[in-house]
Amino acid sequence: MKVLVTGGAGYIGSTVCNALLDRGHFPIVLDNFSLGKRDFVRQHTCYEGDTADHALLARIFADHPEIRVIIHCAALIVVPESTEDPSRYYHENVAKSLGLFDFVRDRGGLAVVFSSSASIYATVEGFRVTEDAPLAPASPYARTKYMMEMVLADFCAAYDMRGLALRYFNPIGADPELRSGMHLAEPSHVLSKLVNAALGVEQEFCITGTDWPTRDGTGIRDYIHIWDLARAHVLAAEYLHGDSNLSAAQREHAREPYQVINLGTGNGVTVRELCAAFQEVWDGDVPIIEGPPRPGDAAGAFADTTRARERLGWQAELSTADAIRSELQWRERRKELLGY
Ligand SMILES: NC(=O)c1ccc[n+]([C@@H]2O[C@H](COP(=O)([O-])OP(=O)(O)OC[C@H]3O[C@@H](n4cnc5c(N)ncnc54)[C@H](O)[C@@H]3O)[C@@H](O)[C@H]2O)c1
Repeated sequence: MKVLVTGGAGYIGSTVCNALLDRGHFPIVLDNFSLGKRDFVRQHTCYEGDTADHALLARIFADHPEIRVIIHCAALIVVPESTEDPSRYYHENVAKSLGLFDFVRDRGGLAVVFSSSASIYATVEGFRVTEDAPLAPASPYARTKYMMEMVLADFCAAYDMRGLALRYFNPIGADPELRSGMHLAEPSHVLSKLVNAALGVEQEFCITGTDWPTRDGTGIRDYIHIWDLARAHVLAAEYLHGDSNLSAAQREHAREPYQVINLGTGNGVTVRELCAAFQEVWDGDVPIIEGPPRPGDAAGAFADTTRARERLGWQAELSTADAIRSELQWRERRKELLGY
């Protein structure tokens, strides 16, 4: 099966491409390399350009008319940046996704897997969220994801196309063969910051917020190994493509014009628990301090994963400790591959 992956040179898109390749599929990357890495896509067929470029999309489909599924990962993703410059985020994430969806509408018969985010959920009691939980996107970034979910739902109701929004929780770790991983030199993700503190790149790790209404006062998240997340995309593409291994119930669901599925482990992990898991894996001291929450922080959420199990036949298999080990290995590899 040929699958077009926008943003396929980024952290998540490149790992999805590797997972597709390992399952015998044929990923085709579309990336403008604004942030993506050429070293991540050397083994894949790749087109350089923008998701809203209809001439380029037409060329890709002329070269690969068999494509039935597009995995749309391309977006800008830094929350504080989106608050400082919302115009850029609405142009890149909303206007350009709309351009892509217009192309999909015109071509007909395609399915779109959309990279959405758990950051659109409101905080709920107990922190476990199903796909029907209330939404309250708290930043311009999260609102771009929320908007494009609505646009995709409306397009799929009106036109000859299907949509699947995958709401990712907190991806961590790297490709198991270390072909790709988190590429930002200064990522804001909590595990990257823990690694920085362990390696002495940063002086210490700060737990931001210790007064949340969670079991130990620190924020709760659902950390999912990027490889589990990538595997879910392969299953999602096969599901939308109508793979022969699907059950009758899965086939029935796959025909729905638009659906939303959470991708998480189903386990909430607090920042203190993540620190403890890190200390178990890391053979050395990590200086940890405590501070106030950052603007826009929330207590957090973790996924109810029933729907992913039922519809995709998927559940996370790797542990937080696996992901921490993977992240540490990637740091070594990143130096060789990307030079920093
Ligand atoms: N990383 C996370 O924690 C996380 C969590 C939830 C959802 N997501 C979503 O997953 C997707 C991928 O995130 P990521 O972490 O891999 O980010 P990333 O920055 O590593 O990857 C994004 C890729 O898209 C490319 N790109 C951006 N705009 C483009 C455009 N207009 N045309 C073509 N290419 C473009 C970039 O060059 C980059 O390669 C995003 O849609 C993001 O919103 C990420």
